Amino acid sequence: MKKYIIAGNWKMHKTIKESEEFIFQLNARLISNPYRQILLCVPFTMLHAASEAAQNSPIQIGAQNMHFEEKGAFTGEISPVMLKDAGSNHTLIGHSERRILFGETNEDINKKIKAALKFEIMPILCVGESLEEREAGKLQSVLQTQVEKALDGVSATDVEKIVIAYEPIWAIGTGKTASAQDANYAHEIIRNILEKKYNAELAKNMLILYGGSVNPDNIAQLMCMPDINGALVGGASLDVESFTKLVNFTPRKSCGFDDLIHS
Ligand code: PGA
Repeated sequence: MKKYIIAGNWKMHKTIKESEEFIFQLNARLISNPYRQILLCVPFTMLHAASEAAQNSPIQIGAQNMHFEEKGAFTGEISPVMLKDAGSNHTLIGHSERRILFGETNEDINKKIKAALKFEIMPILCVGESLEEREAGKLQSVLQTQVEKALDGVSATDVEKIVIAYEPIWAIGTGKTASAQDANYAHEIIRNILEKKYNAELAKNMLILYGGSVNPDNIAQLMCMPDINGALVGGASLDVESFTKLVNFTPRKSCGFDDLIHS
């Protein structure tokens, strides 16, 4: 059985009311699928309302960031305890917009990953290279640095509670998706890093999502790749029609999903 995750990243969009309406409409249209996990990463202001709206549905609600301290003098920040209090057990960590626009370092990301694990919040660790880095042949070294530093001091038992999202920066919000082959190649690199740091079995079982201009037209091709275990979707997760198409997409038997799913 091959499990996968379709996660939406709403970034700085929507109001509480819009989030409730979206979840209601999405839930009403879901085709059941035992392999798929659905996660919506929403702004902090609507975490609570969205978690309430998603109760008794297969939709899970996550945050897009959190601070690594439990509490304290950190004006404007949200702690892991607060996320849980608002009904969320998931969060993105180290999205490239956090790294680039808000100066998050690999060290910060490492602290956040450890804090998420401590408070039993599932982190989705985002990694990925810029166009300049890719063109300079630095894909492998960038991923190595980001993954190793983020997971520094994280045990094998704990790393299994983490999901990784490979999001090449040049493909985010640009309409330029990495080809399914290029995405898969980067996922293989990440698995090799995990294999060296931990072990082969663990590396094989980790869920690695692809993000960067995923839409209803390219999801099937991406999801057919052996090392891609789902998608992290920005733009196309804002519209309930396109996100419904994404989550209702049915992976083919020939792509490693067995017969509970129509082929
Ligand atoms: P995009 O964003 O799907 O709009 O490219 C993905 C992301 O930033 O997570």
